[in-house]
Amino acid sequence: MVVAKSWTMVRHFDGAPQPEDFLLIEKELPPLKEGEVLLESEFLSVDPYMRPYSKMKLKEGDVIMGSQVARVVESKNPAFPVGACYVAYAGWTTHFISDGTELDALPSNWPDNLPRSLALGAVGMPGLTAYFGFLKVCNPKEGDVVLVNAAAGAVGSVVGQIAKIKGCKVIGSAGSDDKVGFLKEIGFDEAFNYKTVSSLAEALKTASPEGYDCYFDNVGGKFTDTALQQMKDFGRIAVCGAISLYNDSVPSTGPYIQPYILFKQLRMEGFFDTRWQDQFPEGLKQLLQWVIEGKLKYREHITNGFENMPAGFIGLFKGENTGKAIIKM
Ligand SMILES: NC(=O)c1ccc[n+]([C@@H]2O[C@H](COP(=O)([O-])OP(=O)(O)OC[C@H]3O[C@@H](n4cnc5c(N)ncnc54)[C@H](OP(=O)(O)O)[C@@H]3O)[C@@H](O)[C@H]2O)c1
Repeated sequence: MVVAKSWTMVRHFDGAPQPEDFLLIEKELPPLKEGEVLLESEFLSVDPYMRPYSKMKLKEGDVIMGSQVARVVESKNPAFPVGACYVAYAGWTTHFISDGTELDALPSNWPDNLPRSLALGAVGMPGLTAYFGFLKVCNPKEGDVVLVNAAAGAVGSVVGQIAKIKGCKVIGSAGSDDKVGFLKEIGFDEAFNYKTVSSLAEALKTASPEGYDCYFDNVGGKFTDTALQQMKDFGRIAVCGAISLYNDSVPSTGPYIQPYILFKQLRMEGFFDTRWQDQFPEGLKQLLQWVIEGKLKYREHITNGFENMPAGFIGLFKGENTGKAIIKM
């Protein structure tokens, strides 16, 4: 008999998530039926989307949504042999039963020496978000000046590197000097710590006096109010995330942005990675290839132990992670 441990959200988050918002439960799983497999999570993902989505999709007491890389530990389905690993969407749980649907195999040419946790990061959902969001929404041209915020994170670090691969000049902002160092290491042309600059507007001007063609926005809020003013005419803005606003109990109000959009003839477009789901295999193939060739570098922020999963999640909103935040079982 296998006991699955799962993290539930015992009460809706009010402001930033707190340790008391989470409860660990245990549940005995039933014996497998024909066609089913039992999987054990190896790596779990904590992502900022869980904060706004919890409000939209979860009831108090529900297991928190999320993805993992999981290994088959028992199988009554020959298509999913014991030992095989898949990306699954089973939520914050150690073990689960699947009938094989919604289990995604890792790309077949996954090198043995590459951590499988990358299937939750640079060669997974965040990588695909960066790949399709940047290329399809920002539509970059060689020589474009690109701005990325939360640039040392899972999505932002991939966006910046893809922009370099495409021949752009890339400016990144991040919340610590160590993160700024990481951005320089992975090829950003300019990077600054938005928490310590005396003026964000000045920092943006210094980094690119001529302004910005593309802005990949992970943060929203005040940062965007300032950045929009420094776009070039016909600039393109990909609205990927708005993490600075996710914990607002009362919606923030800001300056009205329509004049900047109008007078600079900007295009600002929100997107979900899933818009390009039918092209995910192609995107994963390219991302993996770049990783293998050393053109796409990655860093992971590993939190050890399933019991520390809430802390790993809470840390996202404090900027504790450089690269993809991963929970290792
Ligand atoms: N549209 C889509 O399909 C899609 C898919 C995946 C992710 N996203 C969005 O993309 C963004 C980045 O996600 P990710 O997975 O790559 O996360 P991440 O960047 O790896 O982690 C979050 C980072 O956001 C920054 N941050 C946290 N609170 C902030 C605040 N109040 N103001 C400014 N920055 C703050 C912190 O970095 P600093 O230290 O630099 O502040 C933190 O490390 C999120 O907004 C997420 O919701 C969208």
